[in-house]
Amino acid sequence: MTVLGLLDEIASVGRDAGTGGYRRFAFTRDDAVLAQWFAGACAARGLDLTVDRCGNQWAWWGDPDAAADAGDPGVVTGSHLDSVPDGGAFDGPLGVVSALAAVDVLRGNGFTPSRPLGVVRFVDEEGARFGLACSGSRLLTGAARPDVVLALRDAGGTTYAQALQDAGLDASAVGRDEATLRRVGAFVELHVEQGRLLARPEVAAPVGAASLIRPHGRWRVDLTGRADHAGTTLLADRQDPMLDLARLVLAVRSQAERHDTVGTVGKVEVRPNAVNAVPSHVSAWLDVRADTEDRVRAVVAGLAAQGFAAVEESWTPATPLDAGLTRRVAAVAGGPGSPVPVVPTGAGHDAGVLALAGVPAAMLFVRNPTGTSHAPDEHAEPDDCAAGVRALAAVLADLCG
Ligand code: HGY
Ligand code: MN
Ligand code: MN
Repeated sequence: MTVLGLLDEIASVGRDAGTGGYRRFAFTRDDAVLAQWFAGACAARGLDLTVDRCGNQWAWWGDPDAAADAGDPGVVTGSHLDSVPDGGAFDGPLGVVSALAAVDVLRGNGFTPSRPLGVVRFVDEEGARFGLACSGSRLLTGAARPDVVLALRDAGGTTYAQALQDAGLDASAVGRDEATLRRVGAFVELHVEQGRLLARPEVAAPVGAASLIRPHGRWRVDLTGRADHAGTTLLADRQDPMLDLARLVLAVRSQAERHDTVGTVGKVEVRPNAVNAVPSHVSAWLDVRADTEDRVRAVVAGLAAQGFAAVEESWTPATPLDAGLTRRVAAVAGGPGSPVPVVPTGAGHDAGVLALAGVPAAMLFVRNPTGTSHAPDEHAEPDDCAAGVRALAAVLADLCG
């Protein structure tokens, strides 16, 4: 089945008819529907499905434990199915459906892997519900502490632990999963490019590979005021945190400009969030990314110097993908003598978390004509998606052949 055919199978799950975007948050009903769809799609391909201690789903072609015992662990591809609020259809799902489509291509060609081939669906890559990006892969690799993550709460006050239990998973089992990690000899994640380096006229490539993930983090800034009546409280008597929010947003922009970074305040929570009440409290979330860690930190320090204390909620250091594996993936994906372009990204990925955990990891990108992502308009052309599957199938045949 084609990539778009597979994407169509889940097109209605978590889709907001008004915006056309997706709200697929971790451990919700929609997430459970996606997990079930993934299990069915893997079963239909004769892949053996397991779920690790953190809820990530792994489906194997071949025996990953025998290969790991023999010291030649398997090769895994895949991505995530969850989204940001009003996310696009491709960020995450394209990597999952391309993995399934690549298995179809290999099977159709009569290929039999000499190393087990795995397809993975990581949970909660976006961190949209609980605030920690890549929580599934960070817990799996031990990059995040279970007790800290399990205590995270969503906007409604539900803890990560409770959400896991509600999804039929065992919160007490969550943690680094050696039995799963030992099965993974290499990981190649295909993802829609979130940017337009491949779309530049001078590059014009349907497929690329990732060189590195730029350092980035998320912080929360709490602004306290005093609740009061909107109609009867004189301006001079107000302690209105919305004024501080306004200053914060402008300060983020000026710090980002000063340090040649990108800074975003995209999420705000106002209490009590009433038209006719001066707020008592505002929480604002900050996302800062740059070419260097120093520049990211400089923005946060600049804000602190202006009185904005930021609480770090998620941090991703500069993450180079595995250079040797990336060279090999770029060469195979591009065909003899014409490796695909290798470009950096400012977006975080589970591949980066695995790379930081010492798993040889690489990424393939599929061209995004507008570069738009984390938005309903996110798009990749069918021909480019098909080129992505061909490239991924060739890479998997090379690595598992
Ligand atoms: O935020 C990111 O970079 C990724 O989409 N989680
Ligand atoms: Mn994303
Ligand atoms: Mn993604």
